[in-house]
Amino acid sequence: MLRLSTTSKLIRQFSSTSAAQGAKVAVLGAAGGIGQPLSLLLKTNPNVSKLNLYDIVNCPGVAADLSHINTASEVTGFSPENNGLDKALEGMDYVVIPAGVPRKPGMTRDDLFDTNAGIVKLLAQASARVCPTAKLLIISNPVNSLLPIAAQVYQDCGVFDPKKLIGVTTLDLLRASRFAYEITGKVEFVPVVGGHAGTTIVPLYSQATGLKLSPEEMAKLIYRTQFGGDEVVQAKAGKGSATLSMAYAGARMTDSMIRAANGEEVIECAYISDNQYSSQGVNFFASLLKFNKDGVQEILSLPSNISQIEKDAIATALPQIASAANKGIAFAKK
Ligand code: NAD
Ligand code: LMR
Repeated sequence: MLRLSTTSKLIRQFSSTSAAQGAKVAVLGAAGGIGQPLSLLLKTNPNVSKLNLYDIVNCPGVAADLSHINTASEVTGFSPENNGLDKALEGMDYVVIPAGVPRKPGMTRDDLFDTNAGIVKLLAQASARVCPTAKLLIISNPVNSLLPIAAQVYQDCGVFDPKKLIGVTTLDLLRASRFAYEITGKVEFVPVVGGHAGTTIVPLYSQATGLKLSPEEMAKLIYRTQFGGDEVVQAKAGKGSATLSMAYAGARMTDSMIRAANGEEVIECAYISDNQYSSQGVNFFASLLKFNKDGVQEILSLPSNISQIEKDAIATALPQIASAANKGIAFAKK
């Protein structure tokens, strides 16, 4: 016999989402290493009412599998046949893109550009055409170049709204928070600014309370955060890069934006079109951001007490970000 506690839990799972009010989310690249666990986490998010999954392979199977989970959201799988991409995007509020190839040991994220730039350009063109007001979250690498590609595509389509397009850097925040916790035992929000590749990743450990480190120890911690992705790529030994932690990070960022749209005050870091360093030729940057129903509400000033090592790291990151972004924009204009 079904126990009462189980019954009430089931009822909660269904009643917590109103299908009419919840967020409609498309995942493009949903059958991949990130796409599958990300879609699973989104299926369990009570604020999501509709989940459209698109991939060039295996997507109907992933969608059928997830659709048996007893949460209220409706899951549908789409393939390229029969205009599946456009159908997947129709009416969406959020488009999350983890489509593209991952790194193997010895590669940089920029080595993925030649393959992934074309994929993201195509998907951004479809999003700009079919759901131009949806918020776009780009996970695919190199984020530093691919978000600028999407921004240029949206500009060319006349629908660019910088508040709505973000490059997802949340995994860097997870790493910074976790690595600080390993030292202090405290779970804290550690902002990470700059970009998402090597030394463009600038964790602001000055903002973690109780982290008392020598300059050498701090330099090691910053290095570990900047090259945390390589740690996973090497451990996976040719079988890809971070997928599970990235799925968790992507689900958190999507949820943060949905909660902000529902009226909560939400602060996250993400890589966006940002003019604060435009005098240095840098038009994209990951900052501390406040979100609201429109997407990015406000770019917050960097904390006034960041350390000299962090200021120097930002200065090192800026020209690299400018060069990666310009490469993306030149590709998008081709
Ligand atoms: P994966 O190869 O396991 O999955 C990628 C999926 O994309 C595959 O299912 C593939 O069929 C699909 N795909 C390819 N072309 C497509 C297209 N035109 N339309 C739709 N789907 C398409 O790779 P993964 O491990 O999931 O990684 C995906 C991307 O995410 C990589 O570029 C990786 O570098 C990046 N990534 C970013 C972060 C970050 O912090 N932003 C973290 C980890 C990985
Ligand atoms: C990460 O930071 O884990 C991702 O960008 C994947 C990678 O290539 O390192």
